Amino acid sequence: MIIANWKSNIVDMNQWTHDFDDEYIVNERLQSTIFGVAPPSLYIETMHLMRALNIPGHSALQEVLTGVQDVDHSYGSRTGAISVDMVIDTGCNFAIIGHSERRDLFNEDNDLIKEKLKSLKNKVMAVLCIGETKEENDKGITKDVLKQQLDIVKGLELDQSFTVAYEPVWAIGSGLTPESKDINEIHKYIKDVVQSNSANSLIPKVLYGGSVTDKNAESFFKEEFVDGALVGGASLDGSTFAKIVNIFNSTKKI
Ligand code: 13P
Repeated sequence: MIIANWKSNIVDMNQWTHDFDDEYIVNERLQSTIFGVAPPSLYIETMHLMRALNIPGHSALQEVLTGVQDVDHSYGSRTGAISVDMVIDTGCNFAIIGHSERRDLFNEDNDLIKEKLKSLKNKVMAVLCIGETKEENDKGITKDVLKQQLDIVKGLELDQSFTVAYEPVWAIGSGLTPESKDINEIHKYIKDVVQSNSANSLIPKVLYGGSVTDKNAESFFKEEFVDGALVGGASLDGSTFAKIVNIFNSTKKI
């Protein structure tokens, strides 16, 4: 599974889908990699409209899942918030929650993220982001930090679609990444922790995020416990994002 997080960037969607279609390898579609885009919420309906129009040269839109970059845990009189029911009503498939930018810039803590996760349950696929800062990595406490962030699944009956994105904060937008073998080890650890924390012993899919490009994607996808990627900057270009999806298709035999 490969997910694009466009964050708060304006993307020319017509150009993006055209570029994606040009690069996307049609034959490999038989392997049906799931790929999704989380545009800024204001643009989701445009993407859905373009999909409904089925414009020649934009056929990949027929396959793309759409999602929100964050969601509110409640509904009603909450100005500016996007509720889970609105996500469902607009036909979105997934919601990213717990992104480090939400934790850092919007002061979101584990309690709030847990409420968001609970509100999504069985309705919209959750992509829960976790990751350590540079200081925490330097101190060698990465696993402790991730374990604490994963406390939120304790006792919860998780949906089969529940997905974790391991995004080291220091790797986001920096051009730096952990070694592939270290990512693999961390992903195995995340799977184990979620399995033992969740009420139904779910082993989640784990995506890697943080400076993923078409140049380094293969080294990550070769690793056993890497189930895909959450891509920021490199997903803003349709052609580059398609290359990453193609690399996933040819590396992972699903
Ligand atoms: P970059 O791919 O730009 O490092 O961003 C990763 C990210 O934060 C995706 O959610």
